[in-house]
Order: sequence, then C-alpha cells, then structure tokens
Amino acid sequence: MTPSISAVRLGRLLGEDALARPAYRSLAGAIMALLADGRIPSGTRLPSERELTAALGCSRTTVTNAYAVLAERGYLAARRGSGSIARVPSKSASAGRVLTPAIRLDPDAIDLTCAATRAPEGILDAFAAALAELPGYLSDNGYAPVGLLDLRTAIADRYRQRGLPTSPDQILVTSGAVAGLAIVSRALLTPGDRVIVESPTYPNALEALGRSGTRTLTIPVDATGPDLDETERVLRAGGARAAYLIPDFHNPTGALLDDSDRERLARALRRSGTIPLIDETVAEVDLDGGPAVRPFGVLAPDAIALGSAAKTFWGGLRIGWIRVPGALAGRLLDARATLDLGAPILEQLVLTHLLRTHGGMPIGRLAELRAARDATSAALRERLPDARFVVPRGGLNLWVDLGEISAGAVALAAERFGLQIAAGPRFAPSGGFEHHVRIPYVADPDVMATAVERLGAAVDHVRAHGVAGITTAAAHGFVA
Ligand SMILES: Cc1ncc(COP(=O)(O)O)c(C=O)c1O
Repeated sequence: MTPSISAVRLGRLLGEDALARPAYRSLAGAIMALLADGRIPSGTRLPSERELTAALGCSRTTVTNAYAVLAERGYLAARRGSGSIARVPSKSASAGRVLTPAIRLDPDAIDLTCAATRAPEGILDAFAAALAELPGYLSDNGYAPVGLLDLRTAIADRYRQRGLPTSPDQILVTSGAVAGLAIVSRALLTPGDRVIVESPTYPNALEALGRSGTRTLTIPVDATGPDLDETERVLRAGGARAAYLIPDFHNPTGALLDDSDRERLARALRRSGTIPLIDETVAEVDLDGGPAVRPFGVLAPDAIALGSAAKTFWGGLRIGWIRVPGALAGRLLDARATLDLGAPILEQLVLTHLLRTHGGMPIGRLAELRAARDATSAALRERLPDARFVVPRGGLNLWVDLGEISAGAVALAAERFGLQIAAGPRFAPSGGFEHHVRIPYVADPDVMATAVERLGAAVDHVRAHGVAGITTAAAHGFVA
C-alpha cells in the first residue's frame, strides 16, 4: 500500500516559512526540504490540493502551483488513481532516512552522505598475504557460517587486549554491523517488541529495527552521552526488550560514554532485563586518546556487541561480527542462515591480517582523520561562525547545529553547489534536529575545506532566498 501523509500532519511539518512570498515556491521548497531530510519518505502520497488548501488556509492556486513546481523538478508524480506521489529524484542522495552514497554524481561533487573513508595504505599487502593463504581454503566448500576460526580468534584477541576476555566461540562473523543487527533482530526480536534507541542515532540501524516490526522508545543523547536520568526512567517504566546504543563515539554526536556512566547504564539495563545491543562499529576511531574506557561488555556480560571492519579499516571489506554471550550463539546462527550463509573467505583472511598487523586502527589513518577533523572544525568556525558543534575526541562526524534555518533546505541547496550532506531529521527517531547537519570528516583536509565552503554557500543561498530559492533550477553551478 502506498504510504500517505495527511494534510493536517503535512501542515504541521511545513512550518512558518512555507508560505513566505512567493507562497507557491516556498510551499514547494518546504515540501522538497521535508523529502530531503527524510521526514516525508520518498513514495508518500501527498494530500489532495483541496485538502492541503483547507489545512494551510491559503489559496487553491498556491497549492496547485506548488504541486506544478514539484512535478517540474521531478519531486512529484501524478499516478492515475493514486493521487500525487512525492519522491526524491534518483540522482539525489537525500532520499528517505537510510544513508547510502549518492548515485550518478557530477565528478566534482563531494559526497559526505556516508561517514566512511577510502582504504588505508598497506591494504594491498593484506590482500596479497590473504591471496597467498587462499589455496589452503579451496579444498572445502567455502561456506563458513560462523566465520573462519583464525579471524574469530583475532577478533577475540582484540577484545582481550581491550579488557574483555572473549572466546572465539562467542564471535559470529557477518558481512557488516548492519547485517549483524539484522541477524540479532531476526533471532531475538518479534514484531511489536519495544526497543530503546538514542535520539539522534544511526539511521540505517533505526531502519533495520523498524523493518523488523519493533516499536522504538527514544532517549535523548548529546555530545556528553545519553541522558541517563531519562534512560533510567524509560527502563523503570518497563517493557523494553532491547536497547540499541552507541556508547563509543556515538554516530552522529561523537559522544563517548565514560566508565562510570557505562556502569550506571549497564546497571539500569540489567535491572529491567533489557538486552543491550551495543554498536561498537566506531569504537576504535579514538583520535586523541584519553582516559581509557572498557568495552560495554565488561560491565554488561549479557550485552550483544556489533563490530565492523568498516571504520577501523575499510567499508569495502564488508566484514563485521557479533559478540554474543556464549549461550546465544546457536540462536543467532540459525537466524543468520536465512539471510546469508557466511561472509567471503578472502576478505575474512584480509581482515585477519589487518587485525594481526595493526590491532586497532592503523596509526597513519588516525593521524589523517585527526587532520581532517581539525581542518573541518577550523573551516566551519571561519565560514559559519554561528554554527554550534562540539569537536569530539573520536568518531568520524561533526554534528553541527546551523541555527534558525531548515537543514533539509540547506542539504538540497548544497547539492547544487556540489555537496551531498545528510540533514538532522534523518537521524531523529521521533522528530527534531531540523537545524542540524552531520559532517563526516572523511576526506582530505583541503577537500573538507571545500565542502565547508559549499555548505556555507548553501546556507547563504537559503538565507537569501528562503526555501523558495531551492525550487529554482540549479543556475548557480559549483562554487569550487
Ligand atoms: C554506528 C554505526 N553502525 C554501523 C555502521 C555501518 O557498519 P557496516 O558497514 O559494518 O554495516 C555505521 C556506519 O556509518 C555506523 O556509524
């Protein structure tokens, strides 16, 4: 069934600027911005012109003309019998909540939709070493549903180095952390279960949980970590089956939960019998170092941890893992068998080499990211002095509050200046963050400086022309 949005709800989402003059252009721009920031999912049926006219108290011509502008820009398709379907043109990265790299971008465009970097130097050596070992694996069928023992041992060793004794039997190798979450959801959650999530949080995890039919309860998180009073209150109210949390360099805020807050959170989760689903994808991206924090599993033995090679080494490996309390391993394996039957052998061998060579993140990569983070922060302070953000100790993102401006409109305007960027509402499980954008500092410092310049141009554009300004054809070209 086609999802739809009522005129009243759309009216509420549109906000005050939606009828600024010229009203039809502002209205069209405001709807485009809602599509760009994920608050209207692509494919949603819009209210009829008559309904929206009544809800907004404007003239019918305004709505008719706004819909015409949307259709002209590729944001609206009239389907016989289905009304007007809003959609994001396929070239844009900003469709819906899920973060995926943009497709068919102009060659000069900078895509900061995903917080992921290029492969680290030296990765080819790991591939060469893996290739040399591959013949030893060719004589059996190549399925490794729990993962290669050598890799599971290397992952378990890494947990031990970080202070959490782990046996290889507790590790299930997956094709990434999101795949791990899908497996855990399948094994342990049933439709209607309540799952606690942070707000904001990583959108793809949110979507994975949503697709398994669970309902979310949100707890607020900022650069200092989750609001623990509120978390305890939600947990005390009972009924949460699991909690999906990112205590290590949270995406997008960068928050790192310290040891004593971990202890408090773990205690509250234990008391309420809520399963901790701990996403440690970014845990090794500790750029500055500082007081050591132990993996969450040290304090919560029943925690299920999701790990990945994507941020520590390279997303292209498509290898992750789940660390489970021993008793659950069989259940997860059964659930996994209905998704895929194992991860590729060669990439598992590559990751084994990388872990044996580097342990955590390659030192050179940490230095590169530090330089990129600092260049981005400096450029932001200069170009957008009113923007508010906290420079995190680690992780890959700056979570930037742009002030009184629609981040969805800025994200759309940024596209025409050659920058793809994700607006705050995409990270919001239950609304909010309309003025935030996430800036992953995953490119070289000079590219990041250009990205900030383009973001600044987009902000200027929206300030000068309002949301109406994003409806005009992209006459501006790149500022690069
Ligand atoms: C918190 C978090 N979890 C998971 C992922 C994706 O991990 P993978 O590529 O291993 O599925 C990301 C990527 O940005 C992330 O930030």
